[in-house]
Amino acid sequence: MTAEQLYDAPDGHRVHAAGLLRRLGPQAPAFQARLGEALSDAEHLLHACTRDASDPRVGALAGHLAATGGKRLRPLLVLLAAEFGDPAAPGIDRAAVTVELVHLASLYHDDVVDRATARHGSASANALWGNRPAVLAGDLLLARAARLSADLVPEALALNARTVNRIVAGQMRELVGPTPGGDPLEHYFEVTVGKTAALLAMSLGVGALQAGAPRAVADVLVTYGEQLGIAFQIADDLLDLLSPESSSGKERGRDLLMDVPSLPVVLVRQGTDACDAELREVLAVGPAAGSGWHRRFLDLFATSRARVRSEEILRHRLERARTGLRALPPRDARFTLDSLCDFVASRTG
Ligand code: FPP
Ligand code: MG
Repeated sequence: MTAEQLYDAPDGHRVHAAGLLRRLGPQAPAFQARLGEALSDAEHLLHACTRDASDPRVGALAGHLAATGGKRLRPLLVLLAAEFGDPAAPGIDRAAVTVELVHLASLYHDDVVDRATARHGSASANALWGNRPAVLAGDLLLARAARLSADLVPEALALNARTVNRIVAGQMRELVGPTPGGDPLEHYFEVTVGKTAALLAMSLGVGALQAGAPRAVADVLVTYGEQLGIAFQIADDLLDLLSPESSSGKERGRDLLMDVPSLPVVLVRQGTDACDAELREVLAVGPAAGSGWHRRFLDLFATSRARVRSEEILRHRLERARTGLRALPPRDARFTLDSLCDFVASRTG
């Protein structure tokens, strides 16, 4: 498959595996072509891993989220990290697909937990098939990821196992909330490092280790991935409150309605600025204030001090990510990782 080709899923959706890469230029044409082709190959392998030879109905369910879209950020991170070792080393493609399968598995489960009805601008699997099939589809993808990664180098395999544990633990921490008397902001970052940042960090670590890059290089990439991942989640939190529904593919203010402790909401609650007093009031009263409370919150938040602070924290995390990258040799992969920070910043801009 060439970088120009789109993956045509059976239900008419089209995924362009190299779409994100192209937005992260400028890159040397040879580098872009090589990575674009590797991404397209990974896309094929990903869809092959979601199929089920014995029953196409299972394949339709397990392939639903892969087919409806996604940026393929995590496979891209694997491939970029592999550039700091031998990008042609065996198993890089399997590592790239493993991280996407783990990611997709977590989304099937997350949409059940969050009772979400949409993902990637399409109906979620739980909305289409119900909770039980959606949970099992997530389990199936996780099992396929385990099978696909079985022959990765031991260090990459160990990182993979530790990360799946961190994702689930992070999600569990979110569910139970901060410990009584605990700091909600500290809790937010613990949850975020687990449920979002750990997998981005792992993607980079696994790519570097599988490609035989020096351990010190893998460590730099993992640290970058953690900071990028925290920034990514903050951008996601802000998008939930600020973006028109059509651009995020989800209902606006969904996290707020589901009482997900996002950074902006934690900052509103903890804030003392007089200019956010009405916003705090609306949040404190919540649904008891009537059906318009949610719309009022979104309107007030758009010009709030809590929004400014959230954006400052987002920029600070991206700056930390960028600073770490300077320890790496100057090459296309490093510049692309740097551009990824601009991309994350631009998601809310
Ligand atoms: C999205 O958060 C959620 C995650 C990134 C992780 C969800 C993890 C689980 C449900 C545990 C199970 C994990 C595995 C690996 C099977 P969000 O709800 O804030 O983001 P969203 O707006 O994209 O839904
Ligand atoms: Mg969710």
